Amino acid sequence: MKYHRPVLLQKTIEFLDPARGKLFIDATVGGGGHAFELLKRGGKVLGIDRDPEAIKHIKKSQKLKAKSQKLVLVCGNFSQIGEIAKSEGFSQLSGILFDLGVSSHQLEEARRGFSFIHEGPLDMRMDPNLNVRAFDLVNNFDKRRLNEIFKTYSQEELSWPIADAICRARQVKTIETTTELAKIVEAVYARHIKRKNKRIHPATKTFLALRLVVNSELLNLEDSLPQTVDLLEIGGRLVIVSYHSLEDGIVKRFFKQESRLKILTPKPIGPENSEIEANPRARSAKLRVAERI
Ligand SMILES: C[S@@+](CC[C@H](N)C(=O)[O-])C[C@H]1O[C@@H](n2cnc3c(N)ncnc32)[C@H](O)[C@@H]1O
Repeated sequence: MKYHRPVLLQKTIEFLDPARGKLFIDATVGGGGHAFELLKRGGKVLGIDRDPEAIKHIKKSQKLKAKSQKLVLVCGNFSQIGEIAKSEGFSQLSGILFDLGVSSHQLEEARRGFSFIHEGPLDMRMDPNLNVRAFDLVNNFDKRRLNEIFKTYSQEELSWPIADAICRARQVKTIETTTELAKIVEAVYARHIKRKNKRIHPATKTFLALRLVVNSELLNLEDSLPQTVDLLEIGGRLVIVSYHSLEDGIVKRFFKQESRLKILTPKPIGPENSEIEANPRARSAKLRVAERI
C-alpha cells in the first residue's frame, strides 16, 4: 500500500515555486509526496516529522537515493521548527509547508490505533514517545472532561451521551481497542439519531477529538506558526493545508494578525472534484498561503 497520497500537490508546489538551490522546510514530511516534488524541481529540503516511521520510510525510499544530498530529515515536532532549522543551518527560506493531520499510513496501520475501522489498541500517538494514549483518556477521564473534549475539539452533538456511554462501559470492562470504542459510539448514535448518515461513520468525531488531544495538535500548530516568519526570506511563502475548522481557524487568524505576512489566498483553496474522487481523504483539505513582506 502507498504510504500516503499527497493532497493538493500541484497547487502547493505552484505556490512554493521551487527552483535550483532554493531552500524549503516541509514541516510534516510524512511519506515525502510534497518533499520529493520540491527536490525534483531543484529545491533543497529540510523534512520534519514527529513520527519515526515516516522518517524511516523516507530513508528507505528508492527516490531518495538519487536526491539524498538535497534532503535533510529530522524526527521532531514542528513546534520546535525554529530550533530545528537553526541546528540544520536552514534560514532565508523560500517556503515552508505544513500539510497537517495524519498520513494514510498512520490511519491504515491498525496497531497505531487511529482508525475505527481496523481493530487495534487505543493508541493514536503520532510520536511513540508521548506518555498519554487515547486509552488513558478513554479509561481515566471523568464524564465531564470527556464531554468537554468531544464538544470542543470536534463539535460532537452527542458529546454527553457518548461520554456517559464510555463511563458506563468501562465500569464493566476496560475499553481496550478502537473497535470496542467505535461500537459504544455507534450504539449511542443508534439510540439518538433516527436517520443514518451513511457517508460518515458515527465514531468519526469522537476519534478526531481524541487524536487532537493525544497529540496536542492545535497547541503545536499555535506554537509553531510565530516561529516561521523569521525563517522566511522576503518573498518566501508559508503554505498550509489543514483538514478541519479549528486548524484552519488558527491559520487564518495568524495570517491576519502577522503584519509581516501578505495573504495570497483571501479564501482558502480546496481540492477539485477529480482529486476528491481519486482520493476521498482530500475532501476536507483547505490551502492557505501567505508571503513574507
Ligand atoms: C498529512 S501527513 C503529511 C503527508 C505528506 N505531505 C506527504 O505528501 O506524504 C501529516 C504528517 O505530519 C506529521 N505531523 C503531525 N503533527 C506534527 C508535528 N507537530 N510535528 C511534526 N510532524 C507532525 C504526521 O506524523 C504525519 O506524518
